[in-house]
Amino acid sequence: MPETKQIPVQKIYEFIKDVFLKLGAPENDAKICADVLIFADLSGIESHGIGRLYYYYERIKAGVQNIVTEIDIVRDNKSIAVWDGNHGMGHVISYKAMQTAIDKAKKYGMGSVAVRNSTHYGVAGFYPKMAAEQDMIGLTFTNARPVIAPIFGSKPMLGTNPIAFGAPSDCEFPFLYDAATSITQRGKLEVLERKNEPTPEGWVIDNQGNYQTDTKQILRDLLAQKVSFVALGGTTELTGGHKGYGLAAMVEIMSAALQAGSFMHELNGLENDKRVPYRIGHFFMAMNIDFFIDISEFKKITGDIIRSLQNSEKAPGQNRIYVAGEKEYLNEIQIRKNGIPINTGLQKNINIIINDLNLDRSYFGF
Ligand SMILES: NC(=O)c1ccc[n+]([C@@H]2O[C@H](COP(=O)([O-])OP(=O)(O)OC[C@H]3O[C@@H](n4cnc5c(N)ncnc54)[C@H](O)[C@@H]3O)[C@@H](O)[C@H]2O)c1
Repeated sequence: MPETKQIPVQKIYEFIKDVFLKLGAPENDAKICADVLIFADLSGIESHGIGRLYYYYERIKAGVQNIVTEIDIVRDNKSIAVWDGNHGMGHVISYKAMQTAIDKAKKYGMGSVAVRNSTHYGVAGFYPKMAAEQDMIGLTFTNARPVIAPIFGSKPMLGTNPIAFGAPSDCEFPFLYDAATSITQRGKLEVLERKNEPTPEGWVIDNQGNYQTDTKQILRDLLAQKVSFVALGGTTELTGGHKGYGLAAMVEIMSAALQAGSFMHELNGLENDKRVPYRIGHFFMAMNIDFFIDISEFKKITGDIIRSLQNSEKAPGQNRIYVAGEKEYLNEIQIRKNGIPINTGLQKNINIIINDLNLDRSYFGF
């Protein structure tokens, strides 16, 4: 088996775009999907970059996700809109929804778009970063297939339901918090599976509340609802497990209740043992900073907060304090220089796509 290869960023970008084009995406949509996936790889989020391509490919082939995205506007009322994504590409729907929220915020000060019947939108952070790059605060939530058990519960009920928040600063990078409301998320386990590595103890419990660490078995048991991810904070109130559980439930409400969308077990992608669309819901918000305060003052204060955190006293043995968005910024510099690491498990998935779609077999040379 060949070893992990470092592939130049542009080459991976072109490949992802070619795959979506070959599947039938319009040129601009293929570019948006490639932009979101490559943003994940550049940020060092292996679970949501090219590593996710195979899952989208498989869903499009299985007919549970539409490669051509047709959006219906359910409501549009000044600063607020509600959209139906008709099971199109989650990245395309979300890019357009966030840009619409930003455009509304330019006019009204705030803009929000709630979306139903979408599909997996990838890294949540991409969308608030769009807002931060346009001198706004951005916020997004999405629900997902149920995998988190409520605190004191033993069955998965809520998705890994990420929260992403971005704000511009006068630093080299915006503040960008982007994470699941569970200790881990499915993509991280898929990465561990491709590397043949166990799941760390504390991430996953079975229906009896015991920790499980066999990654392959966990991924099988997740589908059968025999295991759950642990909410942020862990399995007890003492460690704050009720807080992660509360946040995941908040995200579920924002991703379903405002748009009359599907929620919790309705997102399983199965009905009477038949595969159906996942019917994911999202929420996007943009806040026009200029309506509150002069943008340069905002950026300076945000930058001062970032710098104060970075320069605060370190714990023994630690030599650096980070803030949200910083590691991703540093990763991008390295990855642009060194390329994107493609391990053997990922090479296998890429080769399946290359063969199935009759793409040039010498694309990556593995
Ligand atoms: N679309 C979906 O359904 C879905 C579901 C879950 C997660 N995701 C995505 O998966 C990705 C990874 O999520 P995750 O939960 O594994 O994230 P994670 O646990 O890796 O946390 C990432 C966040 O923590 C910050 N961070 C990391 N180390 C830090 C440190 N030492 N100090 C300060 N901040 C630090 C990062 O800047 C980032 O904002 C995210 O992009 C998320 O949106 C998507």
